[in-house]
Amino acid sequence: MKLSRRHLLGSVALFGTAIPFQLAAQPSSSVEKDIISNNSGALHVLEGRERLSLDGAWHYILDPFDVAGRKPKARRNFWENTIETPATGLIEYEWNSSPRMMLPAAWNDAEERLDYYEGPVYFRRLFTAPIEAEKRHFLHFEAVNYAATVWLDGNLVGRHEGGFTPFSIEVTDCIRSGTAHSLVVRADSRHGPKTLPGLDFDWKNCGGITRSVSLLSVPRNFIRSSFISLRNSQIEAAIEVDGDAGTSVKLNCPALGLTLSGSAGEDGKITLSAPAPDNLKLWSPDDPHLYNFTITCGNETAIEQIGFRVVEVRGREVLLNGKSIFLRGIAMHEEAFGAKGERAVSEAEARALLAEAKALGCNFVRLAHYPHAAHTARLADEMGLMLWAEIPVYWEEIDYSDKGTLALARGMMAELVRRDSNRASVVMWSVANETPQTPVRTRFLRTVIADVRRFDPTRLVTAALNKNVDVGGVRDGESIITVQDELAADLDVVAINQYEGWYGKRDPREIKQVSFRNGYDKPLMFSEFGAGAPYGNHGPREERWTEEYQAWLYEETLKIIAETPDCVGLSPWLLKDFRSPRRWHGRFQELWNRKGLTSPEGRRKKAWFVLRDYYRNIAVPKG
Ligand code: GCU
Repeated sequence: MKLSRRHLLGSVALFGTAIPFQLAAQPSSSVEKDIISNNSGALHVLEGRERLSLDGAWHYILDPFDVAGRKPKARRNFWENTIETPATGLIEYEWNSSPRMMLPAAWNDAEERLDYYEGPVYFRRLFTAPIEAEKRHFLHFEAVNYAATVWLDGNLVGRHEGGFTPFSIEVTDCIRSGTAHSLVVRADSRHGPKTLPGLDFDWKNCGGITRSVSLLSVPRNFIRSSFISLRNSQIEAAIEVDGDAGTSVKLNCPALGLTLSGSAGEDGKITLSAPAPDNLKLWSPDDPHLYNFTITCGNETAIEQIGFRVVEVRGREVLLNGKSIFLRGIAMHEEAFGAKGERAVSEAEARALLAEAKALGCNFVRLAHYPHAAHTARLADEMGLMLWAEIPVYWEEIDYSDKGTLALARGMMAELVRRDSNRASVVMWSVANETPQTPVRTRFLRTVIADVRRFDPTRLVTAALNKNVDVGGVRDGESIITVQDELAADLDVVAINQYEGWYGKRDPREIKQVSFRNGYDKPLMFSEFGAGAPYGNHGPREERWTEEYQAWLYEETLKIIAETPDCVGLSPWLLKDFRSPRRWHGRFQELWNRKGLTSPEGRRKKAWFVLRDYYRNIAVPKG
């Protein structure tokens, strides 16, 4: 069955595509121009929206050589779900006798034998849904790593590329009430220079349907997205209706005595605004105040929880609600506490990670290096933590000159920004981590930054830079290090990753010889620093890999950070040890990056207390 225009609009094939089929044709220039507001992308999974969960047991078939993808043949077209009969001839698979996996999960965590498997896996489940004819129905995926291809009853209905952002596929035309439908999803976790991340990255590549799957049912005219924010003392709601022009929309917030209503324009867009009431309570880490809003469109009423805050830059300061703030941060990967460090993180597991950051005294968390689950930002709204959210444009093994890869980055950023635009906790969008300083890279990222600025002027834009240049010091052995990366000109906050005392020749004793200078009239923050130490490995502080060495490095680094002019914050690397296939040291790493302040299970290392005490005691005049 040929994909109809409606399918394409439903799915995000526009901005991404998958293995085995060649990269979809690139979007035409007009669409390219405004990629975020044109990204119909994923529906919002809102409280009050009709949702049938498709999580649970799915059968799966491995195809390590990608035979079915490269050489489709009736006897191995897993997506066709064919049952062998004399008429079909040999069928080389049988779903009902194939192994099962409880989803969502990373297959690496769910099956020991798939611990380091990279390649295509096909998943299938049957489902029957009570379908109301007058409604529209979307298959919604919170995340599939890396490239997803989706079939319903043997028909291709959509594709998506990108392992950490949601996508929705409209299946209104092909779904029947009370009928058992066969849903097959191919997830291919392979990476290359044209994927994001690219060929090399320092975390475990966990493949599969790693976040929830559901069937969303919405009225013919429905709210595809809403962006409610405080701008220039106005409460503004940018709403997008998918449906007929003139569709009425109503926003209501009883706590504020606020009701806004209007109807959608030709393009489905509508902006409602009203002066912010005098008694508006602003959201901040110390007082994470949230307001309940109901959004009504047709006969659907959904609920959103909104915190109002203003985050901005003034010279070399970051202001939150007009007051200068210091970002007491920590970086973290999306890996649950536990001996296995599993990827698919439940709400409870995300809460445990954020609670550990709070216990450290943090008011800020860098979510590295890819979009974490949607519930993490909702929890941060509630718990009072500001967030740095990032897309996996990471390191140098990416083809920055490739148009398709650029479209992918723009699509991923669009999906992330649209998913979390209503999260007060998200204060910074990061477009990259430690990327090569080349003109083609800079052009690539400037395009993504322009998209973000056009769509969301309410947040700061940053990137983690590591092109640190030692301009020498006054005395022998001294170093004055500045960041010299042309991309900094495009950022609101200059963030640097530096590993003095770990990578490079210096040990912690010599860190005091280093000072950092901010060459830009912008706020500067330290987005990474750290040292590796397995929990419980003790010894003289001069000995690398000991907790004492890690703690010492923190003590010395925090001293020079405190002396760095215009430093607005830090997010040391990182909260918890995490799995990585490029950590080979047999005694100290065993495929774990040991720079965590806690062990995989959450046991606190010495350096944890150094940072906690620093955050407790920093007499920060600001915020
Ligand atoms: C880099 C990188 C991290 C990595 C860390 C490390 O700076 O951004 O992803 O894990 O260094 O080397 O431990």
